[in-house]
Order: sequence, then C-alpha cells, then structure tokens
Amino acid sequence: MVSVSGEWKKVFVLVCVCPVLCGWGLCRSGAQDDLPQETPVSLSLTTLTRLHFQLVTFSVSIPNLSCLACCSYVLLELIETERDYVRDLGLVVEGYMARMREEGVPDDMKGKDKIVFGNIHQIYDWHRDFFLGELEKCLEDPDHLGLLFMKHERRLHMYIVYCQNKPKSEHIVSEYIDTYFEDQKQRLGHKLQITDLLIKPVQRIMKYQLLLKDFLKFSKKAGLDSLDLEKAVEVMCIVPKRCNDMMNVGRLQGFDGKIVAQGRLLLQDTFMVFDSDGGLLGRMKERRVFLFEQIVIFSEPLDKKRGFTMPGFLYNNSIKVSCLGLEDSVDGDPCKFTLTSRMSTGSTEAFVLHSSHPGVRQVWTLQISQILESQRNFFTGTAPHCTALHSAAPHLHSWKLAC
Ligand SMILES: *[C@@H]1O[C@H](CO)[C@@H](O)[C@H](O)[C@H]1NC(C)=O
Ligand SMILES: *[C@@H]1O[C@H](CO)[C@@H](O)[C@H](O)[C@H]1NC(C)=O
Repeated sequence: MVSVSGEWKKVFVLVCVCPVLCGWGLCRSGAQDDLPQETPVSLSLTTLTRLHFQLVTFSVSIPNLSCLACCSYVLLELIETERDYVRDLGLVVEGYMARMREEGVPDDMKGKDKIVFGNIHQIYDWHRDFFLGELEKCLEDPDHLGLLFMKHERRLHMYIVYCQNKPKSEHIVSEYIDTYFEDQKQRLGHKLQITDLLIKPVQRIMKYQLLLKDFLKFSKKAGLDSLDLEKAVEVMCIVPKRCNDMMNVGRLQGFDGKIVAQGRLLLQDTFMVFDSDGGLLGRMKERRVFLFEQIVIFSEPLDKKRGFTMPGFLYNNSIKVSCLGLEDSVDGDPCKFTLTSRMSTGSTEAFVLHSSHPGVRQVWTLQISQILESQRNFFTGTAPHCTALHSAAPHLHSWKLAC
C-alpha cells in the first residue's frame, strides 16, 4: 500500500474518489453508444504525479479536479478502445490475410483479394507499432494528446485511401460472404464476420473526434490550456469528412477517366437535374452531382436494394471545368441554377440543377464562381480550349468544416 499524504492525498481523493461519487454521468454525457459498461478506475501513480505537477509547478489556478479526472477517464477510454481496435485489425491481417497468403485463394477470387483488404495492413501496422504507444504515453503527459493528432494528420490520410476502396471491397466481399468468408470465419474461430471487421477503420476514424471533443470539453472546464486540442478536434473533423466523401466517390461506377486525376472533391449533393439534351421530352432526373477541381460529374443513384449495404452511383454525364459555365439564376427560383458545357462544336449544353434548399444553391454557385474566377486568372485572358484538361489546376480552398 502506498502511503499518501498531504496535498497528495487531496489530489488522490479528488482524482480517484470524486468521479466515482459524482458518477459516470459527468464523464459520459457525450453521445457515446458503444462504450464498455465498466472501465477500470485505474490511474497510475505517474498520472497522479503529473496532475500534482500541474497543480504545483504551473500554478494552474486550482484546476477543477473532477474535470481533470474526467479527462483521464476519456483518455483511458481512448486507450482501451485503441487496444480493442488493434486487436480487431489483427484478426484481419494475422487471420484472414495470413491464411490467404499461406493457402492461396480460390481461383475465381484471384486478383480480387487485394481489393478486399485495401491498405488495412498499413493501418494496422501503424496503430500497433506506433499510435497505441503514443496514446499510452499521453497518460503521463495529457497535454501531448492534441499535438499527437495534429502531428500525424498526413498519416491519417491512409484512412481516406481505405475509404475510397471500401465500396469496391464490399462488393467483392458480398459475393463470397456466405461461402469462402464464412468457411474462413469458422476455421479462424472468429465471432465477428469479416464485414464487421473491415468496417472498423471507418468507425474508428469517426470515433476519434467524439472522444477528443469530450476530452476538450473537460479540459476546458478544468481550466487547462486547450489550444492544441481545439486544432486536433478540427483535424479530426476534416479527416472523417473526407473519408465519407471518398466513400461516395468510390461508389461511382462507369466513369472512364481516372477519378484521382480530377483534383480534390469539393462538393457533392443530390439534385433534380433537367437536361436540355432531352429536348421537350427531357424530364427531371435525380442525380448525385460531384464537383471536383477539374470536372463536374452527374451520376444516377442505383437501386439501393441491388447493392450490398451501400447504394452506388452510375456515371451519366460530365462537364470539364475548362468548358464549364454558370448561370446563377433561373426563373428567380432560389433553389435553381444552370451549369453549361461548351461543346467543341460550338454549341452549348445546359443542365438546370434544382437543389433541395436555397442554402445548397448558394454554396454551389459560390464555389463554382470561385473556380471559374481562378480559371480566368490562370489563363490570364486567353480562352481555354475545351478539348484538353489542364493538369496544373489552380489551387482551391475547399473543405468546409461540417462539425
Ligand atoms: C467542477 O466542475 C463541475 C462540473 O462542471 C461543477 O459541477 C463543479 O461545481 C466544479 N467545481 C469547481 C470547484 O469549480
Ligand atoms: C444519362 O441519362 C439519360 C436520361 O436518363 C439517358 O438518356 C442517357 O443515356 C444517360 N447517359 C449515360 C451515359 O448513361
């Protein structure tokens, strides 16, 4: 038994006992659904030293200790769930993938197995060998948490790659889910299906922001400096948003060009589109519209029942940005705008887009005006040719925070 005395005792009591008294409600007011019911109340002595250190050395004007304790709980939660996460990814990499490497795959699956797993191996290695350890270090140095996420923002882009591949992966998995993968699951003795495991990275990258937001909340209440954390929360909002965007792009089928060569995805939304090509018979069609830096793509939402878990989009039409025109106002309707495409023949094709909300139209017309504007600057007066896609697109600001 460690003897605790003086100020130490106060810290110990406040940190370890108070949260238990005020109950989990304080720490767990966030919307968190899948937290384990019991989290061990274990704070290491070093953590206590750390808190004590903060109190004394930085003379933080008596931080609210119950909030400080909540910070520690969120951190423990983060580490605990990270361990589970690494274990789950291990079931894929050291289970399925190792098995398939050793035994080979059925003939009809050859070449598809790479798409099933995407870059999950890379994600697994990084979390197992590096990130988990770094999170554990934060127990000793909670201030480091925000910086940790900020520092590795670029690394987290591997999740965007994973998400872009995910729809293709799901498509293949759905073909073999009741046969090959079911056999393998039985043989590996897993409780979880492969689909439950392959979705983990998507869930995890969404989860960090919730935990960080909780940590930030308590850290603010405790009166600690939280500038880094605020930035980290921002980063961890942007990454999942891009992941989500790329999953939608990954669901786009039938586009001949290389989607990654079209610049970043700036906006996407569903519109009712009236296509002048249809002449008098042209009807409003529901279209998922993707605005990339280099191209606007119109696609048709596919039957949701036909796919596996996710709907897909079938390419229907596109306008290269170098041929793009915008008519901001249609019939004075605040929800409508027109995109035109100058054809090489000199004629123009028009698409009237009807958005669900005036705000959507506003965001789109503003973004497109900016693209056209920077294009004009880029060409400094010379008329762009519609036949060639320019490779050096002007850099555009894009990601709007939606958190
Ligand atoms: C500490 O924070 C809790 C929760 O916000 C609050 O109920 C309590 O009054 C605070 N205590 C002090 C000393 O500020
Ligand atoms: C796009 O949709 C229109 C109207 O439904 C259809 O007539 C046309 O064939 C489609 N184009 C492609 C490339 O699928």
